[in-house]
Amino acid sequence: MSLKDKVLAVLEENKGKNVSGNDIARSVGMTRSAVWKAVKQLRSEGYSICAVTNKGYCLSEESDFLNEHSVFKNLNTKEIGRKIDVFKTIDSTNSFAKSLAQLGAVHGTTVISEVQTQGRGRMGRSFYSPVGMGIYMSVILRPKLSVEHSLLITSCAAVAVAEAIEKITGLDCKIKWVNDIYAGDKKLCGILTEAAINVEQGGLEYAIVGIGLNVQNTSFPKNVSDIATSLYLETGENVPRSVIAAEILNCLETRLDTILDKSFVDEYRSRSNLIGKRIEITHNDTVTQAECIGIDEICRLLVRYDDGEEKSLMSGTIRIVE
Ligand code: BTN
Repeated sequence: MSLKDKVLAVLEENKGKNVSGNDIARSVGMTRSAVWKAVKQLRSEGYSICAVTNKGYCLSEESDFLNEHSVFKNLNTKEIGRKIDVFKTIDSTNSFAKSLAQLGAVHGTTVISEVQTQGRGRMGRSFYSPVGMGIYMSVILRPKLSVEHSLLITSCAAVAVAEAIEKITGLDCKIKWVNDIYAGDKKLCGILTEAAINVEQGGLEYAIVGIGLNVQNTSFPKNVSDIATSLYLETGENVPRSVIAAEILNCLETRLDTILDKSFVDEYRSRSNLIGKRIEITHNDTVTQAECIGIDEICRLLVRYDDGEEKSLMSGTIRIVE
């Protein structure tokens, strides 16, 4: 860890409180002037750190930068998120995580960025990822799963994210099949899961779960303003991103343990905002309408067409018909 990172760790640990230059210097094993230099560097990166004579340094309570220390503080996992790479900017955390996974990164390795210049969504769409507003995070997973069970990772992650948001903010979160998280009729979060299969062993080699959550946004560009929302817009509060990111990782670890027994599926079903609704299904450029009648034990969407035919869908894009 660099000296600057060590100082940041102490300040994050004591966020909102004064810590004397002497105490920091002692705990990180450097001189007071080196501490001062590190503080200047952190300030130049945007951290709001005040220095008061005879009192020391204080990282502002409102500081909402994502860094490994701020996330670790609230993390209670064994493996997920225990190795975190945080970027100021990146093209896509999923793309970077994929290259790390190909190099052998361990289960739980997490990539976070303050902004994405080419954030990716499902179906080749882009994901709006403005600086400092959201959580753009990808987690590398290497569970020992068959290809069939691997298909459940994305639904399991949706349950974990909905649960985490609800725990921290109290917001009632629904899941729009397959894996969008909604507050009311607007989207808060999207999940993009990409995976590699080990052909020889016939199982999952790794999966990347990419989570894009709108947190502090006060507005959205025209093309998404009718369908997108943020935690700030829904709750009126500035919820620290590091607290939510850590809770998502906590819930993800707990829920992933239930993939084999599928006990998360009941929770997935009860959070569905589609069951009982008339929906429009877009699949391979074909658009049809049906009634959503349920979600089965492997998270397929059960629909009934107007001619009475019933089907279980594995993929597709859904719109609720008013
Ligand atoms: C969707 O809504 O279609 C899925 C959006 C997934 C966005 C996240 S942000 C972090 C990760 N990196 C990406 O490029 N995409 C995912």
